[in-house]
Amino acid sequence: MSQCFHGPGLTCGAMRHHWLLLGACGWVLLILMFVSKFISFRAVDDYGERVGAQTWTIPGTKLVKPNPVSNPEEPHPKPSHPPTEVPTVSDWQLVVDKRIELLSAVCKNSSLRNLTHVSISKFVLDRIFVCDKHKILFCQTPKVGNTQWKKVLIVLNGAFPTVEEIPENLVHDHEKNGLPRLSSLTPQEITHRLRSYFKFFIVRDPFERLISAFKDKFVKNPRFEPWYKHDIAPAIIRKYRKSHRNIDHAVSGLHFEDFVRYLGDVEGRRRMDRQFGEHIIHWVTYAELCAPCEIHYSVVGHHETLERDAPHILKAAGIEQLVSYPAIPPGITRYNRTKVEHYFSGISKRDIRRLYARYKGDFNLFGYPSPDFLVN
Ligand SMILES: *[C@@H]1O[C@H](CO)[C@@H](O)[C@H](O)[C@H]1NC(C)=O
Ligand SMILES: *[C@@H]1O[C@H](CO)[C@@H](O)[C@H](O)[C@H]1NC(C)=O
Ligand SMILES: *[C@@H]1O[C@H](CO)[C@@H](O)[C@H](O)[C@H]1NC(C)=O
Repeated sequence: MSQCFHGPGLTCGAMRHHWLLLGACGWVLLILMFVSKFISFRAVDDYGERVGAQTWTIPGTKLVKPNPVSNPEEPHPKPSHPPTEVPTVSDWQLVVDKRIELLSAVCKNSSLRNLTHVSISKFVLDRIFVCDKHKILFCQTPKVGNTQWKKVLIVLNGAFPTVEEIPENLVHDHEKNGLPRLSSLTPQEITHRLRSYFKFFIVRDPFERLISAFKDKFVKNPRFEPWYKHDIAPAIIRKYRKSHRNIDHAVSGLHFEDFVRYLGDVEGRRRMDRQFGEHIIHWVTYAELCAPCEIHYSVVGHHETLERDAPHILKAAGIEQLVSYPAIPPGITRYNRTKVEHYFSGISKRDIRRLYARYKGDFNLFGYPSPDFLVN
């Protein structure tokens, strides 16, 4: 600083300039830290489970400028997955092919027909997002990291240059984010795309999925979705809670037991959902969401093996040079039997059997073992 007093005015000005620059850098750093915190929270939120936000370190999907790739080298450091790619890619192709074989075999099983076959209704077409530029269709299934996939497709469609630049409030606004739903197209356009595009969706163990939906919609109760707590939960409690002594619903809240009974009651639930105005996508079966027996999907990813499935899907869709899926914290996607047992403990076998009967199609279609440890 003393230099400033002795030196000519020019040096002094330059010094001040330096300090200002340093200050500005500090601010930018602070803002970046804040923004990255916010983004990593959102990413975790997408899974509907708390997993120490610090482990999900890479905030958004990294995107390379989508100009023609002349340099085949990876421009970004890869997420630190076990570096066992080359020989395992074809192995994984076998795994993925087996899934599709199983799927089409189960679709042909007539005793499961009413649980596996649905019509390609507007409801289904609403679930499917279109990336025309790369000929991809993506059927959205909640609670398996879908926001990440949607962001990837939004960028591939060209509305935003990078994932980080997509405003959070636009990710799910399909009028404005350049990621149209299949339902917005004409029947001819739909048929053409269903026939020729790469099509995929992601599933997870059906009971773990329901636990995740329950926690996300009724326990955490995000303030921006009051509908679940204030309309749906009381209606379910009124109809399905055995003991009405505990009248103060607002305090006790929906129990997993009430939820299970509601989900397993085919007729009662149908009436109730009509009263709510629509299917609730968070617990409608995968078969009803994506019509996997009617639409011939190219790949069905499994949340439990997302570390292998995500890169495989990017490669199979021919976009692996353009995008990479964010690093997945170890253990976060793994099936947790202890958790499932914990949630179902104290729930009657009869209710669990009914629930299983309702979701049996999903268990069978996607190769998840029936939860015998719960029903026997
Ligand atoms: C059809 O599904 C039922 C119920 O899961 C099963 O018991 C039966 O073995 C299946 N049939 C065939 C031909 O796979
Ligand atoms: C499907 O059909 C079986 C009989 O084949 C019946 O027991 C079951 O309740 C039906 N499930 C649904 C969801 O309609
Ligand atoms: C499984 O779930 C239980 C109960 O929610 C939890 O305590 C445990 O840490 C979980 N295990 C793993 C490996 O995530």
